[in-house]
Amino acid sequence: MRFSSRTPADLTPNPISKAIQKAVRGGIIDLTESNPTRCGFHYPPSILESLGKPSAFIYDPQSFGLPEARQALADYLNAKGQKVAMENIVLTASTSEAYSYLFKILGNPGNCFLVPTPSYPLLEHLLRLEGLELVPYFLQTLANWPVDRDRLEKAAPEACKGLIVVNPHNPTGTFLSGQDVDSLGRLCEENQWAYISDEVFSDFTYPGHAFKPWTPSGSLSFRLGGLSKSLGTPQLKLSWILLDGPAKILDECRDRLELVADTYLSVNTPVQRALPDLLAFAPAFQKQLMARVLHHRQFLSEQLQGLGPAMVWPAQGGWYALVEIKGKRALDEPIVLELLEKHRVLIHPGSFYDFPEGCFLVLSLLPRPEVFQEGVVRIRKYLEEKWGK
Ligand SMILES: Cc1ncc(COP(=O)(O)O)c(C=O)c1O
Repeated sequence: MRFSSRTPADLTPNPISKAIQKAVRGGIIDLTESNPTRCGFHYPPSILESLGKPSAFIYDPQSFGLPEARQALADYLNAKGQKVAMENIVLTASTSEAYSYLFKILGNPGNCFLVPTPSYPLLEHLLRLEGLELVPYFLQTLANWPVDRDRLEKAAPEACKGLIVVNPHNPTGTFLSGQDVDSLGRLCEENQWAYISDEVFSDFTYPGHAFKPWTPSGSLSFRLGGLSKSLGTPQLKLSWILLDGPAKILDECRDRLELVADTYLSVNTPVQRALPDLLAFAPAFQKQLMARVLHHRQFLSEQLQGLGPAMVWPAQGGWYALVEIKGKRALDEPIVLELLEKHRVLIHPGSFYDFPEGCFLVLSLLPRPEVFQEGVVRIRKYLEEKWGK
């Protein structure tokens, strides 16, 4: 049997995955944990109760989702100062599924999308599953990770159908600058590319920074978000696409998306009926998570302060911390393996995110305080032994 090339030819786990599988059995401190439901946050029981409404038992299939759920989401976003009309909201079961809908309407097999690099390794899989290709564009290893715009313009092939931004970015935790936003928007308008803005972490903006939703006026644009991050409930399976663009093309886009959404009808009814109640809890969850993330960042910075070549990169939002080991190129995987095997702490190497240069380590800022602190202390001791103070 020959399978399609939508899944990789070689499925053998890499050395880090093998080491993780082995180490996990003996118990480890997992500082890659990014599932909030395993990190000891408080979720009120009313979340589950809201899923049990009698109305949830009636199946009323609607391709873009139930109007009451879409209206609740529009109200939630408008209360944050965004201008979103219910007609321009499409509900999906996850942000990954939202991408897949967009790729289906925008790209033919062999077409490609521009994807920021380094980046969370999700898009290569999502694109591949649709028979599409990823063309990287690069963020420069400089303060705030600006886009390498010259290289992007030269890299974009004819078959390009869209440009993806992640704002704030994962794992750098930085927002796109006004200049980057302007020039990426201009490129989308000139080339008739779709602009896809992944905003799943935008509710987690650090003090002193602001998230400004933005889309180019002259091309189709799609902003993505979801409960997996905004409410810390990936298991509820509800995300959204916010559509925008010039009126005529937007109408056609809506019709085509409707066809795709109607084919799957994947969002379950209980979560849609519960959405107004669920969104009412979102600010309390976001407050808890932000307090933890900021506290962990502070602890990490204090522990690594003045420690050999280690440096915690500043960030503006999100759930992750980026540590650079200065001047130690290509050592990220050996460091991660040593930390795992000798000190039983798991973090991600920069290679997991395709950092094109430098030696980067990525830590989740979600774990419970006692777990995070023990893990960071072990990392500090390891770095001290290796490179001294
Ligand atoms: C930037 C980004 N977008 C999308 C997703 C996937 O979100 P969902 O769980 O809603 O599919 C992730 C997962 O962590 C992510 O980091």
